[in-house]
Amino acid sequence: METGFNLIYEERERLMIALAKGRLQNDSLALLEKAGIVVSEEALQSRRLLISDETGTIDFILVKPVDVPTYVEYGIADVGICGRDVLLESQPDVHQPINLKIGACRIVVAGPVAARGKQYNKLSTLRVATKYPRITAQYFQERGVPIELIYLSGSVEIAPVLGLSDRIVDLVETGRTLRENGLEVFEVVAESTARLIVNRASYHLKRATVSKLISSLERAL
Ligand code: PRP
Repeated sequence: METGFNLIYEERERLMIALAKGRLQNDSLALLEKAGIVVSEEALQSRRLLISDETGTIDFILVKPVDVPTYVEYGIADVGICGRDVLLESQPDVHQPINLKIGACRIVVAGPVAARGKQYNKLSTLRVATKYPRITAQYFQERGVPIELIYLSGSVEIAPVLGLSDRIVDLVETGRTLRENGLEVFEVVAESTARLIVNRASYHLKRATVSKLISSLERAL
């Protein structure tokens, strides 16, 4: 099979790819496989966080989604795959050459069904729980709504249920988590899909290899 990656092997120019563990991981690996980069089942089943593809020329690190831009920005990984939500929040200084169109979801303002249709009262402070502090602060600031931002690192949907917050700003994919916790979407803040991100130095120093990766992924889309 023509993988498009013979060049990497010939040049012995190793590439390190940071992958987001969790919801994006399987779709990312499936897309990479379509692009000719295959990670063995054995490597995936192991608990190793640094693994290689079957040719042994491409390394992968499996990290939390929010950490993918950090590894790429610092040049530990040459490229990474992560959601636009993470990029909007962390604003890393990296190239973003392709929308990979996997992992589609939305960042939304959500709240209890009982609060549906309630207008914001600009004279009182709204408590908003989120793992996206930057996106949330900017969204409400642009609308002139004063908020008290409550940072949580996960399971954000429980916050309004228990009275910790009036609203949440969180990711919605199927909507099941919101539904099953008595919440609903009030406003859409942003749409998100996964992006390929590239370290600025690698983009130039490993130009041939990175370009091959980009064109292989574009063909696989
Ligand atoms: C995400 C998100 C929601 C949930 C939405 O959480 O923060 O909680 O998925 O998915 P759904 O619309 O398909 O129900 P994640 O699974 O990443 O875990 P977390 O709550 O620990 O951040």
